Parts: sequence; C-alpha cells; structure tokens
Amino acid sequence: MHLSKRSLQIQPSATMKTSAQAKQMIADGIDVINLGIGEPDFETPQYIEDAAINAIKAGKASFYTPAAGLMPLRQAVADQTNSDYGLDLSATNVAVTTGAKMALYATFQTILDPGDEVLLPDPYWVSYSEQIKLADGVPVPVATGNSFKATPAQLEEKRTAHTRALVLNSPQNPTGVIYDKDELVALKTWADEHDVIVVTDDIYGNLTYNGETFTSIAQLSDHLSDNLIIINGASKTYSMTGWRMGYVIATEATISKISAFLSHATGNPTAVSQYAFLAALKGEEGEANAVAKMHDAFEERLNTIFPLVNALPGFDMPTKPQGAFYLFPDISEALKLTGIATTAEFVSRILDEAHVALVDGNAFGVDKHLRISYATDLASLKKAVDRLSKFMDQNIQ
Ligand SMILES: Cc1ncc(COP(=O)(O)O)c(C=O)c1O
Repeated sequence: MHLSKRSLQIQPSATMKTSAQAKQMIADGIDVINLGIGEPDFETPQYIEDAAINAIKAGKASFYTPAAGLMPLRQAVADQTNSDYGLDLSATNVAVTTGAKMALYATFQTILDPGDEVLLPDPYWVSYSEQIKLADGVPVPVATGNSFKATPAQLEEKRTAHTRALVLNSPQNPTGVIYDKDELVALKTWADEHDVIVVTDDIYGNLTYNGETFTSIAQLSDHLSDNLIIINGASKTYSMTGWRMGYVIATEATISKISAFLSHATGNPTAVSQYAFLAALKGEEGEANAVAKMHDAFEERLNTIFPLVNALPGFDMPTKPQGAFYLFPDISEALKLTGIATTAEFVSRILDEAHVALVDGNAFGVDKHLRISYATDLASLKKAVDRLSKFMDQNIQ
C-alpha cells in the first residue's frame, strides 16, 4: 500500500518501544526490571476511581461531551491554574484533551504553518519533534551543554525568519532540571522581543523534591500573554496515565481553534475520565492525602537511587535532579571502560544481559546518556542498580 511521506518520516516513540520490548520479555518469562517508561507505578487514588464509578452508575459517562471538555472541568482547571500561577483565566482559556500528548499535538496543528521552525532545547521529550513534523513544521534542536537549560544566546544562534515557537519543559524530562525565575525572565524577554510563541510543558510541575520549587514561565505576568501556551495534565501528578487527561491553556481565540481541531480529531476526551479528573482537581476529603504520599515516595526514591547510580563506574551526574522522576547520567566513561561502541548497543546489552530496560539518550537528542526512570518501587530500583553494577564489573576491560 502507498504510505504517505509524512508517515514514513515518523519514528515510533522510543520510550514506548523500549517498554513494549521489556513487557514482551516479561511475558516470555524473563525477569526484566522496566525503568524505561515515564509512568508512576501507583494505582490511581481511590477517591478518583470512586468518582469515575459513580459517574458511570449515574449514567453521566454515556454521552459525547463538548469537544474541549465539560464546562465544570474547564472551569476547575482554570481555577486551579489561577491559584497556582496567579493568573485570571476563564474556562474559555482551557481545552481538555486526551492526555497532554494530544494537548501538544493539537497545539502544533493549530500554531504551525508548513516550514515553521520550533526550537527544542536538548534534551527534549521524544514526542515534540515527531509531532512538529506531523504538523509540517521543522524541529530545531538547541544544544544546551551540561546545564541542560537553554539561554537566550543559544536560542538566538538558532533563530531564523521561520522561527515560530520555543518548547520549554520544566521540571524536565529526562534530566529533572528546573529553570529558575531569573533564567525564565531572560527567556521571556528574548521570546517577546522576537515574537516567538512559548509552549510551556508544565506536566511535572507538582513533582519537585528536597525543597526545590517550580516556577512556570506563565507566572511571570498576571495575565496570559498572546504568545504563551501552557500544557499540563493529570498523568503524573495523580497517577492517571491510563485515563488520558491533559489540557492546553491559551487565549480564547487560540482555544477556540484548538477546540475546532479537537472536534474533528477526538470528538471529545473520554467522558468518564473527565469526571475522574474533575474529582482529582477537587481533591481528597479527610486526612490521608494519596497525592502527597506518591510525591513523597518519589522523593525518597530519588534520594536513595541518585547516589547509587552516581557511584556506578563511568556513570556521571554532576547535579542532582530537582524534579520529575528520571535520572539522565552521562555514560561517556562507561562506554570507554567497557569498549562498547554506541549508546544504543550499551542499552541493548543491558537489556539482554542485565535484564534492565533503560532508554538511549539519543531518543531525547543527546548521545552518551541514558534515561533511568525511578517511577518504580525502591526494592526493584535497588535490584536494578545491583544488576547494572554486575554488568559493569563483567564488562570493564
Ligand atoms: C514532558 C512530557 N510532556 C507530556 C507528556 C504526556 O503525558 P500524557 O499524554 O500522559 O498526559 C509526557 C509523558 O511522558 C512527558 O514526559
């Protein structure tokens, strides 16, 4: 069958591919520890599941909803964001989508013309570049060096007459770095001066550790500027990856176009998930706060696993991640020590020989790095580090 040029240039999601490979090995009876995927291992908190079950039982989940989501949910997202960011958003500034992934997809479809360039500070999340290409745009990686954070000078070097947008992700997948306020002010000044749209992916905003705080570039002003788009969702904060709930926040005019796009793309985000997300945002009654407990578990895992991975021969992380749930060690030395030629081969041999699934940094635009997700229980994490340690012992030349 004829396949479009567009489909032929798209690479499958590296993180999902690795995870599928690991799951297949597990299904074949091999004891693989999967640190390849960015998915919290906790079941969705009970109060959220209960709200979904109640919505189904009340017959509310049986029908189409508006394309950009139920009005009370859009309002709840606006209220939460106003309270977190000090903005003055209305429900009409919000479109609820099938995960943050669809929020990003709808955004690129709405803001990009063919040939428009989008700056992606590296390392960047795997789907940005492919989604930009699907919108006939051009992803432009921006090298950030060891800090993993872009400066105006680095962006300016890549800016052309076709530069339309910049994607910022903080706390960042895969490094866990967070831009501080001064860095954001500098980036905003640069973007405003050159009329560049900033798409800020804040999906890990609630996952910061050890007293670190997160500032969104959206907080630098008390109203939403024309050139700003906020992406967020329920997957990471509430452990709701399977429910597929995300959202995009922008000016009313942009949201109405995104909504028109969504009306043809997904029809509407799944109704039952919207009721679940609404309950998630309203929060839990009583003492036990499941969301805070999950956050604290991630923090403990980071604090346990970070020094262990840093101590592996040839694995180097000069700075401790501040948020999200990934480590992104530099393995240049490990490659030299083992004589393994490429990062891809290193990852593949670790999967085959040590039975630990990791992701090649090249999936995020940066060679000689690995992404290790610590969104799994501590015992498995420690076991995985033991296996990595043995792998290095056996392969150091
Ligand atoms: C940086 C980033 N943005 C967006 C997403 C999409 O999340 P979801 O579609 O589950 O809401 C992810 C998921 O891994 C992510 O890491």
